[in-house]
Amino acid sequence: MTITALPPEELEWRDSREKVASRLLKATADKSFDPDVDIDWQLDFEPDKFFLSRRHVSLYGTPLWDQLSVEQQIELSKHESSSWLSAGIAFEMQLDAFLLRHAFVRNPTSNHVRYALTEIEDECRHSLMFSRMIEKMGTPIYCFQPKLRKVVWNAQFFGTEITAFIGTLIVEEFLDAAQRQIMRDDEVQPLIRQLTTIHVVEEARHVSYARSELARQVARISPTRRAVVQQLTAWMASGIYKLLVDPAVYRSVGLEPKVALAAVKNSPHRHEFRRDLTERTFRNFNELGLVGGRSAAMWRAWGHPA
Ligand SMILES: [Fe+2]
Ligand SMILES: [Fe+2]
Repeated sequence: MTITALPPEELEWRDSREKVASRLLKATADKSFDPDVDIDWQLDFEPDKFFLSRRHVSLYGTPLWDQLSVEQQIELSKHESSSWLSAGIAFEMQLDAFLLRHAFVRNPTSNHVRYALTEIEDECRHSLMFSRMIEKMGTPIYCFQPKLRKVVWNAQFFGTEITAFIGTLIVEEFLDAAQRQIMRDDEVQPLIRQLTTIHVVEEARHVSYARSELARQVARISPTRRAVVQQLTAWMASGIYKLLVDPAVYRSVGLEPKVALAAVKNSPHRHEFRRDLTERTFRNFNELGLVGGRSAAMWRAWGHPA
């Protein structure tokens, strides 16, 4: 049987994919966690510690924040942390479904597919860890209420692999930037810091996988398609960040959601927070040519040099 040789650029594409995946498989074998045993679940929450970094709480830096007692501020941080974790589970479920579809049509003996399956294993452990933490916090279940959940789930069937990797990076890089601050913040609950440390270590590999695959795929698209992808990237970024904090969290500390949302919208600190935590995402997308045309205006409005 004659084996048809692949053209050099296809070989280069395949080798680059395999090299990245084999490095990530090795890194996974070297350092992975089992949250059931690596988190000290017996620990109680401490009454004077926050559940997110204080400056990550949506109302921080607004006049409304100053009107809350420290107990209420801590309570709001707990509900927002729970909302982040609920959103995290939903995003991870989306990613798992996408990675299965991505792997399904590729060579099952390749390192690239093996790593996709490995990442799904990581994400399932993360979602279980988030679920356990939400239960321990004893809050309502926030984010992605049934109707919105359906919309978000169905959105994946209209997207391409490129948009799926872009969505993945928007979520993973933002959470990575925030969680790197949380894990070093001694104002935050030790249990939350343990969870965050596990997530940061394992997510760094996922970011690497998505970023390198996106770079390979984007290098081949036409200028017309690139313009569409640029626009979609900006839409996805602005939509995804809105999903992190469910407005229902404000009621849990006795605030009217409309009033709290207006305070967040006008908060210079919140704008600064979004700019700082999306700096690397912006830089990466810009380098890949995913910022430009009409979409540049959104990134500029967020404070990035688009
Ligand atoms: Fe994760
Ligand atoms: Fe991930």
